[in-house]
Amino acid sequence: MKSPKITARAHTNIALIKYWGKKNQELIIPMNNSLSLTLDHFYTDTTVQFDSTLTEDIFTLDGKTYHDEKVSHFMDIVRDLANISTFAKIDSTNHVPTMAGLASSASAYAALALAASQAAGLNLDRKDLSRLARRGSGSASRSIYGGFVEWQAGTNDLDSYAVPFEEDVDWDLQMIAIVLDPNEKKISSRAGMQTVVATSPYYPAWVESTTADLTKIKTAIQARDFTTVGEIAESNAMKMHALNMSATPHFSYIEPDSIKVMDAVAELRAQGIPCYYTMDAGPNVKIICQKQDTQKISDYLTNLFAPEKVLVSAAGPGAKIIARCE
Ligand code: PMV
Repeated sequence: MKSPKITARAHTNIALIKYWGKKNQELIIPMNNSLSLTLDHFYTDTTVQFDSTLTEDIFTLDGKTYHDEKVSHFMDIVRDLANISTFAKIDSTNHVPTMAGLASSASAYAALALAASQAAGLNLDRKDLSRLARRGSGSASRSIYGGFVEWQAGTNDLDSYAVPFEEDVDWDLQMIAIVLDPNEKKISSRAGMQTVVATSPYYPAWVESTTADLTKIKTAIQARDFTTVGEIAESNAMKMHALNMSATPHFSYIEPDSIKVMDAVAELRAQGIPCYYTMDAGPNVKIICQKQDTQKISDYLTNLFAPEKVLVSAAGPGAKIIARCE
């Protein structure tokens, strides 16, 4: 017996207000709300089919088969929800330029949540899909929606999910990713978060100031106030990275080339070009800008880094089914 074969597509997202710490590890309940922009350029396509002849889940990513505990654990959650015990074939393709180093758990688990739940016969609404995607990776809860998305922290499995803040973005915001290191991150986001929550003396200040940043950035987004959006996003990212440096043991994702990009952004701003940076759990720097300035900014950066390392994205859509085979 085979289930329908479902293919879903989900795009990755960049957090302007970061999620960096959990109050519940198992359920992935964050300490604070976060806010992101879903991106059009980077996405994952995932096909799922349950098959009663299988004796385990078979997971293929970009043509290679893996034994992935996290994926199997996630599939167990889907099986529990659907009240089935069948294993599945899961086939994922990351649509990110080769060597981009931006393959993201956000697009991966959002696509898997949609494809697996549908193949299992569940017809979840977007709130429940966001809750399910969250169980794979926190940031995936936001990739269910397009545009600006807020993940409301909540306190438990039922009330921790993302909601659209502005799904159809009629604002020419762009993001330029500077790919500095395509390799696996040295400290996983899971390990990094655990260390800062447990040891950084600044952690309570982070939660407090991030809550204030979120309120301000929402007002600035609604007012289309690019300068304020950029300033808050940049400052919020640096506060997150300061947490890492204040943890025991301290650690950092910032590498010499990351600082080179930050200096370039400061120089561009000094020249009157509005742009701001943000960074996640790795050395790559992402620059937020407006479309009218993208060319100037990428020209400046391609003088410093190889052109294939400079990738431009705009706002992207939410997760959707792209193929269904009964
Ligand atoms: O959901 P994870 O485990 O990939 O953690 C994401 C953490 C950051 O990317 C650093 C911040 C965020 O809110 O996306």
